[in-house]
Amino acid sequence: MSNQRAGVAIVTGASTGIGRATAKALGNAGFRVFGTSRRPAPEQVDGITMLTCDVTDDASVTTLVEAVLKEAGRIDVVVNNAGIGLLGGAEESSVGQAQSLFNVNLFGVIRMTNAVLPSMRRQHAGRIVNMSSVLGLIPAPYSALYASTKHALEGYSESLDHEVLAFGIRVVLVEPA
Ligand SMILES: NC(=O)c1ccc[n+]([C@@H]2O[C@H](COP(=O)([O-])OP(=O)(O)OC[C@H]3O[C@@H](n4cnc5c(N)ncnc54)[C@H](OP(=O)(O)O)[C@@H]3O)[C@@H](O)[C@H]2O)c1
Repeated sequence: MSNQRAGVAIVTGASTGIGRATAKALGNAGFRVFGTSRRPAPEQVDGITMLTCDVTDDASVTTLVEAVLKEAGRIDVVVNNAGIGLLGGAEESSVGQAQSLFNVNLFGVIRMTNAVLPSMRRQHAGRIVNMSSVLGLIPAPYSALYASTKHALEGYSESLDHEVLAFGIRVVLVEPA
């Protein structure tokens, strides 16, 4: 497959759901797509090259980004889609549960973003798409922990966008309902 018709994209959490659909859509739009799952997957699924990555693990994220750069030479788009949910009464939810949610939904995005920004700055172009939620904007009962991760992601993304704009990089949010 050619390296660049539209560019090279990474989609985290591409084994299922919105991530899988996003990876397929980017492939159909002409991108060379690398999708991730924590579990080993067949090398190619629907034209997507699947690689293993756990966004809670610094080394796993670094290894993924290095592998894509070695294989494709550049990264134009990263879709930080990997995420987990939790519904429950706030007072019945533990700090440990909150830490687990933040470790994927916010810190996972920060790990991936920090890993790809150096190459995006060098190429003076890049797009980081962060999968938030309508619960990143509005309150909802029994969603306090999940909503807090997505509200934090919104603040991170909008602030980062101002930081990297001068380097030709934009950070955008998607807020599914
Ligand atoms: N579905 C909705 O209605 C909805 C609404 C608003 C926002 N969202 C957001 O959209 C995103 C995708 O949601 P979804 O419903 O499509 O999720 P999903 O079907 O549950 O899939 C989650 C994906 O994230 C990956 N993942 C989970 N933990 C991970 C980790 N530690 N490291 C790397 N990958 C990990 C999973 O991959 P493996 O298990 O294969 O590793 C899987 O591919 C999430 O950020 C979610 O918060 C979804």
